[in-house]
Amino acid sequence: MTEPTIRDAIVSDIPSLHALVESAYRGEASRAGWTTEADLLDGQRTDAEDLASILSDPEQGMLTAWNGDALVGCILIARRGEGIGYFGMLSVSPLLQNAGLGRKLVRIAEQTMADRFGALRVRISVIPQRDTLIAWYERLGYVATGEALPFPYGDRRFGLPKREDLSFIVMEKTLR
Ligand SMILES: CC(C)(COP(=O)(O)OP(=O)(O)OC[C@H]1O[C@@H](n2cnc3c(N)ncnc32)[C@H](O)[C@@H]1OP(=O)(O)O)[C@@H](O)C(=O)NCCC(=O)NCCS
Repeated sequence: MTEPTIRDAIVSDIPSLHALVESAYRGEASRAGWTTEADLLDGQRTDAEDLASILSDPEQGMLTAWNGDALVGCILIARRGEGIGYFGMLSVSPLLQNAGLGRKLVRIAEQTMADRFGALRVRISVIPQRDTLIAWYERLGYVATGEALPFPYGDRRFGLPKREDLSFIVMEKTLR
């Protein structure tokens, strides 16, 4: 892959962002990648309203990766209290995965949250059934804190669960 350009998302990127996130997380298209939520959840991962509220919030933002005019990756960054950053919605186009862009987006998100939010630690939440993804986050320096969060069953904005035992574990990394 040629080196993608990274920049903050703007409101006019929302349709492309929505399409990218859905293609990476859900449904048949996502199975072209090495990790997906397709076996765990149907329905949507996000929507235009959710993305608009992220982009209008000074405590959050989206970093995007572009190959020319094509959006190929994104990552949500957020301030979650004094010295604490959070990232989520990390997505790479399924056909372009496993070439280092995901790792690069995590590294740039960590640096951006340190610079912009004064983050000293970064937290993420991951569905515990996703063991290969958890192993990848461990290789990136994230460690399970032992905290668990409930899955928002009944809120269709987060998708339609295919099983009844979903939750999140919290992982954390201290930035150097
Ligand atoms: C998670 C995601 C962003 C990673 O992006 P990516 O561009 O593939 O990431 P990279 O190329 O930097 O890294 C891929 C890693 O997966 C590993 N990998 C590749 N195929 C694998 C497989 N079948 N099983 C396990 N690990 C695998 C690679 O060895 C590599 O690990 P390394 O960085 O330690 O060498 C991407 O898979 C994605 O968009 N997934 C769907 C959305 C999602 O699940 N997001 C995270 C939710 S919390």
